[in-house]
Amino acid sequence: MPLIPMRTLLDHAAENDYGVAALNVNNMEQIQAILEAATETDSPVIIQASRGARDYTNDNYLRHLMLAAAELNPNIPIVMHQDHGNSPATCMSAIENGFTSVMMDGSLDEAGKNPNTYEQNVAVTKEVVAAAHARGISVEGEIGCLGGIEDGHGAGLSEEEAQEHLTDPAQAEQFVADTGLDALAVAIGTSHGAYKFTKKPTGDVLRMDVIEEIHKRLPNCHIVMHGSSSLPQELRDEINKYGGSLKPAYGVPVEEIQRGIKHGVRKINVDTDNRLAMTAAIRKVFTEKPAEFDPRKYLGPARESMKEICKARMIAFGQAGWAGKVPTKTCKEMIDFYKK
Ligand code: G3H
Ligand code: 13P
Ligand code: ZN
Repeated sequence: MPLIPMRTLLDHAAENDYGVAALNVNNMEQIQAILEAATETDSPVIIQASRGARDYTNDNYLRHLMLAAAELNPNIPIVMHQDHGNSPATCMSAIENGFTSVMMDGSLDEAGKNPNTYEQNVAVTKEVVAAAHARGISVEGEIGCLGGIEDGHGAGLSEEEAQEHLTDPAQAEQFVADTGLDALAVAIGTSHGAYKFTKKPTGDVLRMDVIEEIHKRLPNCHIVMHGSSSLPQELRDEINKYGGSLKPAYGVPVEEIQRGIKHGVRKINVDTDNRLAMTAAIRKVFTEKPAEFDPRKYLGPARESMKEICKARMIAFGQAGWAGKVPTKTCKEMIDFYKK
């Protein structure tokens, strides 16, 4: 099956009340881990690459790896999504390289550092929607700013500062009307990376009520949760046991994500949990077998460890069991859908 547009998958998820993990990749092992998890759970998948991931892999390698994934897994619907596109040019180059979905993150300026104005955000998002929809490609936009910083991307807001940049539900409603996007990323107090909350998050810092309010106003809009890694304690302990030095931190509890899915959340971005899983496995090999130097002997366990996290999330978010039932629309077919 060819790579499918994200809109098709999220529409199906909304009709059937499930969410889909959007999993970041930077190499072959991560793509394989996701597809193995998808096969074992019969899940459709969203595989996403950040700008940093595209630089690291080189677009040509990434495109061919994704085409190989589609060829080898004809029964798994796969979306290839640009994560945090910083400009229309980034989104267009993703489309040229075979991505079937793009995020135009106009919440921040092109440098990915400072919050944009509402008008600036609308302008860049609208531009991408027009160009992408003409090609049947799906578009995610973002209103409000997340905390943290990843690979130079992010306003670097602290846990407290992030609370000042939460999504305003009324503005979200306006933003969807002004841009015509397919999926809306919202800021509810989460941040990217391994340090989200200093204690187990309660409703005053992890604002699931904001999602509920947005869903009330926009019942047909697909909501996206970024910074949704749960930062499992056992993985943090494992990394530290084998020489790591992660400080204590709390992530987004899976039960809160499940609550979000009941209120319109359809795409859940998870990267850090997979990074932790791979790192724990690699550290274990290097500690227990210091003489090991065959990359397959540590990348293999890392892939296996990531697969287990992916499977757990696919089951928890409800996408498991749906692979064979997602309509297999192509991007070409979506061109007419957007014309209507
Ligand atoms: O948006 C954040 C993702 O975790 C991707 O991170 O920019 O380091 O690839 P990255
Ligand atoms: P995490 O850092 O919580 O995994 O978030 C990933 C993300 O939002 C990618 O866009
Ligand atoms: Zn993100």
